[in-house]
Amino acid sequence: MAPSTVDGTPNGLVKPKEEEGSASSIFEIDDSDLSRLLEKPRTLNLERKRSFDEKSFSEMSLTMSPRNNFYKTSEHSSRAFDNLDGVYSPGRWTGTPKSGYFEPHPIVGEAWEALRQSIVNFRGQPVGTIAALDNSSEELNYDQVFVRDFVPSALAFLMNGEPDIVKNFLLKTVFLQSREKKVDNFKLGEGVMPASFKVLHNPVRNTETILADYGESAIGRVAPVDSGFWWIILLRAYTKSTGDTTLAERPEIQRGIRLIMTLCLSEGFDTFPTLLCADGCCMIDRRMGVYGYPIEIQALFFMALRCALLLLKRDSEGNDCIDRIVKRLHALSFHMRSYFWLDIKQLNDIYRYKTEEYSHTAVNKFNVIPDSLPDWVFDFMPTRGGYFIGDVSPAKMDFRWFCLGNCVAILSSLATPEQSSAIMDLIESRWQELVGEMPLKICYPAMESHEWRIVTGCDPKNTGWSYHNGGSWPVLLWLLTAACIKAGRPQIAKRATELAESRLLMDGWPEYYDGKLGRFVGKQARKNQTWSIAGYLVAKMMLEDPSHLGMIALEEDKQMKPQMKRSASLSFETIYRFAEDEFGFLEFGDVIEDEFGFLEFGFETMSFGVEIPVRIIDLMSGDVFMVS
Ligand code: GLC
Repeated sequence: MAPSTVDGTPNGLVKPKEEEGSASSIFEIDDSDLSRLLEKPRTLNLERKRSFDEKSFSEMSLTMSPRNNFYKTSEHSSRAFDNLDGVYSPGRWTGTPKSGYFEPHPIVGEAWEALRQSIVNFRGQPVGTIAALDNSSEELNYDQVFVRDFVPSALAFLMNGEPDIVKNFLLKTVFLQSREKKVDNFKLGEGVMPASFKVLHNPVRNTETILADYGESAIGRVAPVDSGFWWIILLRAYTKSTGDTTLAERPEIQRGIRLIMTLCLSEGFDTFPTLLCADGCCMIDRRMGVYGYPIEIQALFFMALRCALLLLKRDSEGNDCIDRIVKRLHALSFHMRSYFWLDIKQLNDIYRYKTEEYSHTAVNKFNVIPDSLPDWVFDFMPTRGGYFIGDVSPAKMDFRWFCLGNCVAILSSLATPEQSSAIMDLIESRWQELVGEMPLKICYPAMESHEWRIVTGCDPKNTGWSYHNGGSWPVLLWLLTAACIKAGRPQIAKRATELAESRLLMDGWPEYYDGKLGRFVGKQARKNQTWSIAGYLVAKMMLEDPSHLGMIALEEDKQMKPQMKRSASLSFETIYRFAEDEFGFLEFGDVIEDEFGFLEFGFETMSFGVEIPVRIIDLMSGDVFMVS
């Protein structure tokens, strides 16, 4: 390999030339497999999957609809289909379903009706959906528009060709971001997005105002780290689905993206590229031992970084941000794929770990004590399959399975194709535990007795197998479905969706279910929970028309050198030794081969403590370059 593909600069910075264009914008690129999927919805990922055989594909295509099924009526749901007039025009379905072509489940119409009832207006414009429309229980904050809860609603509207509410929401929330936020006397970072907001009506003056909560009123007073990430992900979904780039290009939106990035890319005392968080800063918004570097946030962080890269303009303000994003993505993907990944081999390695190893040669880098491995994980881990564990911190590995983080890892391509397949294998082999009778467990397993007391602080809402502590959340169905389609295994999602639709309407669209198998409507679950409704609709629409996946999934970034190889080839050994002599410390074992033919050895983020020094070795000449 001639070094001509590398730019050497006097300060030692070398960069493959192609990388300069790596951060291509959503406005420029459209050559990914996913974009093609948008055009040709029925050719999805047939080669990749294992359990999704030809039979299952043909079964599925029977229920596939043309690209868009529009549910525009806000009248009573049973009339939703009566009103359709049987006309099919390219890209739009406005007609009565023909038998054998598209047969919507009877509850689909009811779901649309309920979703429309949840719409919140501000000065005559729809700006979001309320968390739950349940008059029977105390409101608390369920009468608010939550940023994270609105995501499945927004996707449902986008998939149904109704982008306006999504656009209004994105603009309203970016405006809220620029307000000053304080908890007692402490000022929060500029980029913090609200967890939720509420429209207040003043009947006397006949005015409306918006009141937002950034964590200062939330139970536990934790700022939502996930809100900003979901906002960026939704902005990209809107842009991808509508083709309207003008929204993302607006100065206030560009500024909003940069502010979120500035918050999460700021330098501190961290030795890891993952994002340090307080307990309760995401979907699990109560004390549940989900602090440190929880998988949910890391996966959303990764996805938001990738979306921001597509959305940011290459101008003087954007460029610096883009450079930082690219570097962080490299380090983050390496860290997550290597240290958060657990399969039977990795489990066995940890089981045999030595402890108290000092220096860069340590195998057990985080000094995890094998005795801290919980008993359940040995039974839970299938021979084939794997997942990203809940957290990796010094001397702490949280081995729990978290659904959202693993699904987002697949959607964002944080998971390699092999890891995505392995996650699917795990779901299939642990169906009873993770899906049971109602999809899907938010985490597994639940904490009980002493552990519950210590970790949750005796939280009566989060007792074992309830709510956040091993409860089953129908909203997760859309994430599972999207992940299954991306991994080429839609049959798994179809099975889960059938389970959900046998009960959801009958039970009044609960927020969550309780019990090991999810058989019971949750102890304190709200009814008419909007994201349970929207999540079901999104899952249905994606199964009917997999091309919708494009708005919420990202193809593997070719620039991210995803192909991990364990190599013992002669050339590797030779060059490894050469490089080791030169630098003294290199990751042994993992080699990443990129498309330019370089080998990169270990992103030793901790060795230098600055940026991401990477050693690049030209295989032909043996020359070693540094990127710093
Ligand atoms: C609960 C959930 C949270 C959700 C909120 C509104 O607090 O834990 O994720 O956003 O309800 O539905």
